[in-house]
Amino acid sequence: MAGVSDRTMRGWHVHEFGGLEAMRLEPLPVPQPGPGQVRVRVHASGINFAETRMRAGTYSGQALPFTMGMESAGVVDAVGPGVTACRAGDRVFGRARGSHAEYVLMDELHALPLPDSLDFVGGAAIPVGWLTAWHALVTVADPAPGARVLIEAVASSVGSAALQIAKWHGCWVAGTASRDDKLARARGWGADAVYNYRTDDVAARVRADTDGHGIDVGLMTIGEETAQALFDSMAYEGRIVMYGSTGGRQVCFSLNIGTRNLQLHSMSISTSARFPTETMRTFRELALPRFADGTFRPVVDVVLPFEELPRAHELVDARTHFGKIVLTVP
Ligand SMILES: NC(=O)c1ccc[n+]([C@@H]2O[C@H](COP(=O)([O-])OP(=O)(O)OC[C@H]3O[C@@H](n4cnc5c(N)ncnc54)[C@H](OP(=O)(O)O)[C@@H]3O)[C@@H](O)[C@H]2O)c1
Repeated sequence: MAGVSDRTMRGWHVHEFGGLEAMRLEPLPVPQPGPGQVRVRVHASGINFAETRMRAGTYSGQALPFTMGMESAGVVDAVGPGVTACRAGDRVFGRARGSHAEYVLMDELHALPLPDSLDFVGGAAIPVGWLTAWHALVTVADPAPGARVLIEAVASSVGSAALQIAKWHGCWVAGTASRDDKLARARGWGADAVYNYRTDDVAARVRADTDGHGIDVGLMTIGEETAQALFDSMAYEGRIVMYGSTGGRQVCFSLNIGTRNLQLHSMSISTSARFPTETMRTFRELALPRFADGTFRPVVDVVLPFEELPRAHELVDARTHFGKIVLTVP
């Protein structure tokens, strides 16, 4: 769009790692799209747990300074050299670093067409959570219909997406959380069983609910607080996919899990070679039509104005949300 390149935009920028005060809403140059990139006028951006670590300086590889945000939805307003799949005016959503700003650069590969049935807030609630859950379940675990799936932190952005994906896959799905109100909401979104890992004996409940079989696929994200209960819940030949370390990175477990032939997988959508080739392809082919027809629904809990990013981080820390916290960008 002619003229935009001369202007500045507002964006949430971090110069030094720290607390909420480290994030400053300030004027920044409007970015120019390079080869294979599109520039998106952001209308909404999603909040992720990882951003709290980026801000604090505990997210591996995060360099200073940087603009906050990992995903957004908006309208393409300029395309870089070689871009063929997007045009100015397209409604898109996708992963893009620097999304808590009025404009962001998105790789053409990551820019997904926003179905007409979704607004920008819904679109911004999808990319990181759903693509992570899709990679964990569809690409890595690939459970058979009827498999028993347990989703740790089912109320999280990733967990609430995994719940819908696993149900669509025909699985029996259990979810855990630290609060009963979140478990009630998970039931409302289709969970077959829910466990409060603070108050329930999760492994005993799983055994009772699966007639002694146990869990075929466990999505692991919390860490030491819940790891043993997850191992104890697993069925013979069960697969654990570890995608997060929300509660800490050190986990201690007995290697006798080998006697049950448990398989441990770990993953990151940022570094997996299978992510761009398999996950993005199958997500476009299989998930996008499900969003268009309403089978899949973004899980939006709280919508805040752009200026309230620090409040959004407070809510992440409070751990009361179910699904996504989204900022609207005027
Ligand atoms: N591997 C990848 O490629 C990838 C991609 C995206 C995200 N992730 C990771 O996935 C995890 C979830 O991300 P998200 O954005 O979905 O999170 P989120 O929506 O903010 O939810 C995180 C939830 O984790 C639970 N939790 C358990 N122990 C916790 C602790 N000590 N501190 C904070 N929360 C704790 C809380 O729910 P309860 O209190 O109910 O347990 C909390 O609400 C994060 O670790 C993130 O870094 C990984």
